[in-house]
Amino acid sequence: MLFRQAGQRVAALIDRCPHRLVPLSMGVCVEGRIRCGYHGMEFDGTGRCVHIPAQTVIPPTAQTRRFPVLERCGLVWIWMGDPQLADPTQLPTVEKHSEPGWEMLEGGYQHHPSNYRNIIENLMDPAHTTFVHSNTIGDPLASDKPSPPRKPIDTSSRTAGSRMRSPRRTTANG
Ligand code: FES
Repeated sequence: MLFRQAGQRVAALIDRCPHRLVPLSMGVCVEGRIRCGYHGMEFDGTGRCVHIPAQTVIPPTAQTRRFPVLERCGLVWIWMGDPQLADPTQLPTVEKHSEPGWEMLEGGYQHHPSNYRNIIENLMDPAHTTFVHSNTIGDPLASDKPSPPRKPIDTSSRTAGSRMRSPRRTTANG
């Protein structure tokens, strides 16, 4: 779960209270901390518990996992792997962002209860637009227009693009 700490820096914690495993996203953000909606324990952006109602001692195990997170170009980037391997230099750059003459159009967000790869595939597949979105943005005149010529893809770089693999063939012997 994501929230803004005091000072507005964004923080990302696993969505699970270490006390009784309640999703912290069911709680509230109070002065830059997350207050669990079950018994009111509060956690800071490092995942450390900083307050337990009616209790002065906070056990060191009262800690939830945090993820490295960074805001850049109007986007929140989260690293959910080994925190030691988080490397902000690997983030893609957004050309022209913040340059004079360009502006950012913010359109809110959509929540899709789906694997993110399904959304990426959908957004990279404009051929469906005419048919799936026939009552809104679909354009029947566009469905038969050939695609513009493609630029060759530089496959020497391993930092961009993706590879596809044919489904594994199986034989009677496996
Ligand atoms: S379950 Fe979160 S404080 Fe008890």
